[in-house]
Amino acid sequence: MRKKLLIGLTAVALAGVALTGCSSRADTSSSDTTVKKGDTIGVALPAKTSQNWVLAKASFQDALSKAGFKADVQYAAATNTVADQQNEIQSMITKGDKVIVIAAQDGSQLNTQVAQAKKAGITVIAWDRNILNTKNVDYYVAFNNYKVGQLQAQALVDGMKAKKSTGPYNIEIFAGANTDANATVFYNGAMSVLNPLIKKGELKVPSGQTSFQQTQTDNWDPKNSQTRMSNILTKTYSNGTKLDGVLSPNDTLGRSIITAVQSAGLSVPIVTGQDSETASIPLIMAGTQYSTIYKNTDEEAQGAVSLITDLSKGKSKPSGVDYNDKTNAGNGKITVPYKALTPILVTKDNAVEAYANNPTLEALAKAGAK
Ligand code: BGC
Repeated sequence: MRKKLLIGLTAVALAGVALTGCSSRADTSSSDTTVKKGDTIGVALPAKTSQNWVLAKASFQDALSKAGFKADVQYAAATNTVADQQNEIQSMITKGDKVIVIAAQDGSQLNTQVAQAKKAGITVIAWDRNILNTKNVDYYVAFNNYKVGQLQAQALVDGMKAKKSTGPYNIEIFAGANTDANATVFYNGAMSVLNPLIKKGELKVPSGQTSFQQTQTDNWDPKNSQTRMSNILTKTYSNGTKLDGVLSPNDTLGRSIITAVQSAGLSVPIVTGQDSETASIPLIMAGTQYSTIYKNTDEEAQGAVSLITDLSKGKSKPSGVDYNDKTNAGNGKITVPYKALTPILVTKDNAVEAYANNPTLEALAKAGAK
């Protein structure tokens, strides 16, 4: 009797699948999740454009093995191009990895690969960087990027005010790579704070370069931001105009901007950053770089791994997932179910306390605080 009922139910379920086909992501996300303990999880990381990506490999290996999964972590580092990552994802599909976690080298160039992964019944998780213009992403796990941008911009304003109580202040704006979906979100978050002040005349951008396309940095490459900063200094600031602050989207670019200013023989303005890179903490403690953002890579990897663990337990709605955050998780086609982590703004004043859970960073902060 029970068996008959089960067969009947299966038939109904199959008919449902046949009728709905693959019309939307929601139809497939939980039903095809067959991941279980012991399975291999693919992690496709981008080129090592900043220290967080270097740290990510060990973070994933540790978190996955502690949770009972096997890790298959690859970088797009052979030629630092999207082709590396496309090939890696392809081979993860062929190898039979059950979940593929992707930090996109280029968010708009992976549609074919994620479509193939979905077709093979693999759960696709975008990690740190979203994948654009596709319905074939099941989840997105990342620090709140819009918030990162807002924190950076607010730090820029606070830092300039602390140095000189009245404006107007002259600033320049740098954004990340236009191939990285995060770069736009950081920029939008930052501009939500800066634009009203620019309108009021409290902030001025003497170069006139304010749009995302004018301020973006190809490949997140510090050589490009250093060159752009140097060019702006020569063109706009050699007449004695004072530069009060620079919005830098991360630490790697922030240091290149500081180098450009120092090479021009000018005094270093308020410069923001992101990632809490070990090379930037001493600069922050010395007051050369004003701020950074702390996004603990272990915590971010753990965010993905606990989601995978939830899926392996058959949970169709893993914990901590928001289904409606278009600002952070809209990918041009769908709003990807999104698990958000909270970024922390760090300046000299709170560094020791902010890094209390990270022995390497805490030691650097303490050494600089002396
Ligand atoms: C990450 C940042 C990083 C940047 C450059 C972004 O997608 O979120 O943490 O600084 O890429 O690698």
